[in-house]
Amino acid sequence: MKEPQEIHQSTAHRIVKRMKHLSKWAKGQRVSYFRVFDRDIPGVPFMIDCLSTHWLVWVCENNLENEAAHIDAISNTLHSINDQKVIVKYRSKKNTIKQHHFQQDETCQIQEGGLQFHLNLTRYLDTGLFIDHRKTRDYIRSKAKGMRVLNLFAYTGSFSCYALDGGANFVTSVDLNPSYSEWHQRNCELNNFSNKRYAIITADVMTFLKANKSKYDIIICDPPSFSQSKRKGVQMFQIQDHATPLINACFKSLKKSGFILFSTNYRKFNMSKAQGGLSWQVRDLTSAMCSKDFEGKWMSRCWEIHHEALSGGG
Ligand SMILES: C[S@@+](CC[C@H](N)C(=O)[O-])C[C@H]1O[C@@H](n2cnc3c(N)ncnc32)[C@H](O)[C@@H]1O
Repeated sequence: MKEPQEIHQSTAHRIVKRMKHLSKWAKGQRVSYFRVFDRDIPGVPFMIDCLSTHWLVWVCENNLENEAAHIDAISNTLHSINDQKVIVKYRSKKNTIKQHHFQQDETCQIQEGGLQFHLNLTRYLDTGLFIDHRKTRDYIRSKAKGMRVLNLFAYTGSFSCYALDGGANFVTSVDLNPSYSEWHQRNCELNNFSNKRYAIITADVMTFLKANKSKYDIIICDPPSFSQSKRKGVQMFQIQDHATPLINACFKSLKKSGFILFSTNYRKFNMSKAQGGLSWQVRDLTSAMCSKDFEGKWMSRCWEIHHEALSGGG
């Protein structure tokens, strides 16, 4: 690990360079929340995001030696670029939540692709928007016109907002966590979507899919790598083991001409293993969905999955 003063110099230089490289693109894409640094310098275990109102520093090492001095140094570095507030979050393997500088909720709104989203930078492990999926959301928007869309593991509804913006006929979203459903509702209101065009359902995805009788044109399925809930009837979820029954259950709710957008950031996930001998048509979209600020660093992968019947072009 470098001395804090060294971080102050080399990291500032790198961030200014990246800001120059990304700012024209960000303006063109109407993006006000993007990544400017991802452990780019050896011994600097931080990811840093630039928002129009804040700097967001993710500390990626569990037991960072001399942590307080390093955090002060990185905060000074960022303040030397501009005087936005610095929020420090901890993205450790243990997924612990720790705050620095701010004890109370720090909220803001950001813009992305002509839409707006509420963020909470301090309360939860994540902020309310996964910026690495920006391009995937845009892809869904480009396909959504006139479609019935189902967004599973919907979180705060960013995919749903893009689908609505793209002219989807109706968007149904499912997430287990009522706080995220409420946040999702506020994002829909922020973007002035009529509540006649969407439904936000707080439920377990598998329970929902088992009971569902409707058919959808597009199903977005971006599950967590692992989840365990104390809620009654909700089974533990592990993506490698449960992807096959989950995708099979999605197919039962998918129109013949429809597709599933499946995504994960679980590095060890093996799609061929999940597919087994099953006759899905799987197209890897990963390289096409990587945003400019994540080039060379993107951890997520995504696939478009169709019924086999479409293989002959039908
Ligand atoms: C990785 S986030 C999904 C991110 C989202 N697709 C997006 O791009 O904004 C995982 C979400 O899955 C939800 N979740 C976890 N287990 C669930 C389950 N069994 N049924 C429904 N939602 C679940 C969590 O509440 C969380 O919002």
